[in-house]
Amino acid sequence: AYTAEPFLPERGGLPALRKAAAECRGCPLHRDATQTVFGAGNAHARVMLVGEQPGDQEDRQGKPFVGPAGKLLDRALAEAGLDPADAYVTNAVKHFKFTQAEPRKRRIHKAPSLREMTACGPWLAAELAVVEPELIVVLGATAGKALLGSSFRVTQVRGTVLEEEIHGRRERLVPTVHPSAVLRADDREAAYRGLVSDLEVAARALS
Ligand code: URA
Ligand code: SF4
Repeated sequence: AYTAEPFLPERGGLPALRKAAAECRGCPLHRDATQTVFGAGNAHARVMLVGEQPGDQEDRQGKPFVGPAGKLLDRALAEAGLDPADAYVTNAVKHFKFTQAEPRKRRIHKAPSLREMTACGPWLAAELAVVEPELIVVLGATAGKALLGSSFRVTQVRGTVLEEEIHGRRERLVPTVHPSAVLRADDREAAYRGLVSDLEVAARALS
């Protein structure tokens, strides 16, 4: 089975994890992507935000949530009263998965498979063990399935505080929609308000 497990370092904090993840060959996604996009932010963050996978911009720059979805997320976080400086942001899958009709054509995001999500899980588990956030904000269905299992339905639990055991640790989580889904929504304003309102639930759960 695909797994990142053999690539995890024996010890060390986030710097050691980031360095090791750069060499991960735990699933086929490393082949076409530019680089591993590991989590970033405050190692002592109270909140960890978990997205799906890096997008085109993230793949080029090597940092999570630096493209259009990230810009929207930053704005929503600030509006909800969550300080981005007190957050750690990462993704369920650390390599960009895409389709491309021809070389040099636009790279179109493709959802990771369950096998790829499972393969990449040890990195997310390691990030959780090091950062020990007080709260996890789950951004969309892929992150939800990666953390809470395949029966996760974002529409059923968004904007609520969940308590679940994840990788042997008791975690509090607030799921919401993925910021990319807001960008794609017919009524973008309503979708954005919904995201902010879910993030407000997270902000209240922290204080
Ligand atoms: N979407 C994600 O899920 N993660 C990113 O880092 C960027 C876009
Ligand atoms: Fe490793 Fe995850 Fe990249 Fe697959 S997606 S190669 S498991 S870092």
